[in-house]
Amino acid sequence: MARKKIALIGGGQIGGVLAQLIAHRELADVVLFDIVEDMPQGKTLDIAEASRIDGFDAKLKGTNSYKDIEGSDLIIITAGLPRKPGMSRDDLLTTNAKIMKSVAEGVKENAPNAIVIIISNPLDAMVTLFQRVTGFPHNKVIGQAGVLDSSRFSSFIAWELDVSVKDVNAMVLGGHGDSMVPLVRYANVNGVPVMEQLERKYGDAAKAKEVMDAMVQRTKMAGGEVVKLLKTGSAFYSPAAAATKMAEAILGDQKRVLPSCVYLDGEFGVNGYYVGVPAVLGANGCERVLEVTLNEEEQAALDNSVNSVTNLVADMERLGF
Ligand code: APR
Repeated sequence: MARKKIALIGGGQIGGVLAQLIAHRELADVVLFDIVEDMPQGKTLDIAEASRIDGFDAKLKGTNSYKDIEGSDLIIITAGLPRKPGMSRDDLLTTNAKIMKSVAEGVKENAPNAIVIIISNPLDAMVTLFQRVTGFPHNKVIGQAGVLDSSRFSSFIAWELDVSVKDVNAMVLGGHGDSMVPLVRYANVNGVPVMEQLERKYGDAAKAKEVMDAMVQRTKMAGGEVVKLLKTGSAFYSPAAAATKMAEAILGDQKRVLPSCVYLDGEFGVNGYYVGVPAVLGANGCERVLEVTLNEEEQAALDNSVNSVTNLVADMERLGF
């Protein structure tokens, strides 16, 4: 069977790591597209020349032509400017909407049957715009945010409890902004609630809550924490790792339950917006949304987050997109 084909639109920091991760795992042949001349060709050549060392046969091609994305099974989009220190994801809206519109047109024309994962920020708006411009089925257009946000939350929990992160299950819902909703009540270590573990550790419910609140807050601001340290860009390793996990689930028809930015048609009380929720990812993209029973406080937090998504989409529409 021929190897699958993944096209990466945007060959910057995240695009470069994606090309490397996908090739190393032989998940697919890779086409790396960017508007900057020669750069994607250089990056892919560099990665390909390590193929003997890393032991992979996946093919890599850098390009400045949309023609080369033809026949792609999956497309991952990172085109756009990253955040600068002090800049919110929403500040990026106008610049990245223009870029996303042109990318959507290129993808629609050259790879109309592909499933698409979007990473570009502001995420919820970019996913919405891409779907509207292409008219692709909603289940085939998915945003990456929740896998990374949940990994950040899980990492903080593992570090705090000094347990393997592999045994931590924690999930973040909502928009990919500061109002995202880390689901504390469902967070667990091999089935045991994290709050219970924290209470045992500190012998004090108030202290346990304080520690959890700090982890929740750090999760919400985690992207900004990295931006502040890097100074010249935003997180790039972890978003690439997150999208690779989603790509594996889709190309391997794995039915993994991964928090993803998907189109809601009544689920969680949301109609007609892209929001981060647990989704079953398989050969058809987002195959199903897994609903979760939320208590009043959680539902209020989700409603608040959905509100920021609808505001963002309204801003984008006001700007003419
Ligand atoms: N078409 C294709 N690529 C484009 C276009 C376009 N119209 N405009 C810009 N690009 C490319 C840039 O040339 C650059 O190589 O997108 C790439 C973006 O790479 P980086 O600036 O390194 O940004 P990166 O860290 O990869 O983040 C990309 O993902 O997480 C989000 O906020 C982040 O929106 C940003 C995106």
